[in-house]
Amino acid sequence: MYEIGVIPGDGTGPEVTREAVKVLHAVAQKKGFRVHLETYDFGGERYLRTGEVLPDSALQEFRRFHAMLLGAVGHPDVKPGILEKGLLLRIRFELQQYINLRPVKLYPGVDCPLKNKGPEHINFTIVRENNEGLYSGAGGFLRKGTAEEVAIQEMINTRPGVERCVRWAFQYTRKYGTKSPKTLTLVAKTNVLTFAHDLWERCFHEVGKADFPDIKRDYAHVDATCMWMVKNPEFFDVIVTENMFGDIITDLGAMIQGGLGIAAGGNINPEGVSMFEPIGGSAPKYTGKGVINPLAAICSMGMMLQHLGEEEAARSVEDAVKFVTAKKIQSLSAGKMGYSTSEVGDLVASALA
Ligand code: IPM
Ligand code: MN
Repeated sequence: MYEIGVIPGDGTGPEVTREAVKVLHAVAQKKGFRVHLETYDFGGERYLRTGEVLPDSALQEFRRFHAMLLGAVGHPDVKPGILEKGLLLRIRFELQQYINLRPVKLYPGVDCPLKNKGPEHINFTIVRENNEGLYSGAGGFLRKGTAEEVAIQEMINTRPGVERCVRWAFQYTRKYGTKSPKTLTLVAKTNVLTFAHDLWERCFHEVGKADFPDIKRDYAHVDATCMWMVKNPEFFDVIVTENMFGDIITDLGAMIQGGLGIAAGGNINPEGVSMFEPIGGSAPKYTGKGVINPLAAICSMGMMLQHLGEEEAARSVEDAVKFVTAKKIQSLSAGKMGYSTSEVGDLVASALA
């Protein structure tokens, strides 16, 4: 029995999470394992009603789950930062979900904005450090509001924080890399961030040389990476990068795999509780209309199954999604799928092998 915590969250989060849960129940039944879900109403609505973002007691409760699902965070009536920091980043940090795993995979039948690129060209994974860097929240203002105002936002990189991420990325590459030889690319900016990314670069090579001699090590600057992701995405196998760069290049990754409607991710604590969420946001303008694409949420749930060790169930979900993109829906875009949100969930559920 898997105990799963679910936070549907804001905007279209509940609609897409409902479909992910539908497919989860269907695949559990097919593959003969059991799940028990505990759902929480944290998010913008609850905050506006009660002033509460995430009580400490809830964080404590989360620690008992085998994994969690999150829909989306972000509400138009709540000042930016409150929910993002108070809910999403707080869970990522306090549960030490130090890996943000974001596959960039073009599925069959999905429109790719890149000319002459197909599923054989777009199939790599980004491992984003998820607990440090510019997200640490260290910094402050001097003379705030004056003409001489200073704002400092520190980029924190610790050797243990970088090393655990790099090690995990090497292990992931060894297990799931698809190129020959299996290749891990460090994405950074060593030519400018000569302290922070010097640490990353030394750590990357030391760890790789000592413990992963079978994995090819590569390096690309982050700006060049953006260029390669558009020009030659087939070049990449697995990328490891720091938090902010990872945030940015995974949105680019989502676009080349067909958009936020399909882009899945997981916040992983390899020794603890992980939380899986689509990369896209709460899409307020589509809320409640039943037109948003639930595939990203369904694929995130599939990643959760893989993480839980239910490899066969995970594969079955991915294959069902591929069948739906190839044979059923017309487009990944909200309102243009040719089906409603819940019909797409039904399609995936009934396509499970
Ligand atoms: C993401 C999002 C978050 C991030 C925001 C909502 C805090 O953009 O998951 O990529 O920056 O990590
Ligand atoms: Mn982002």
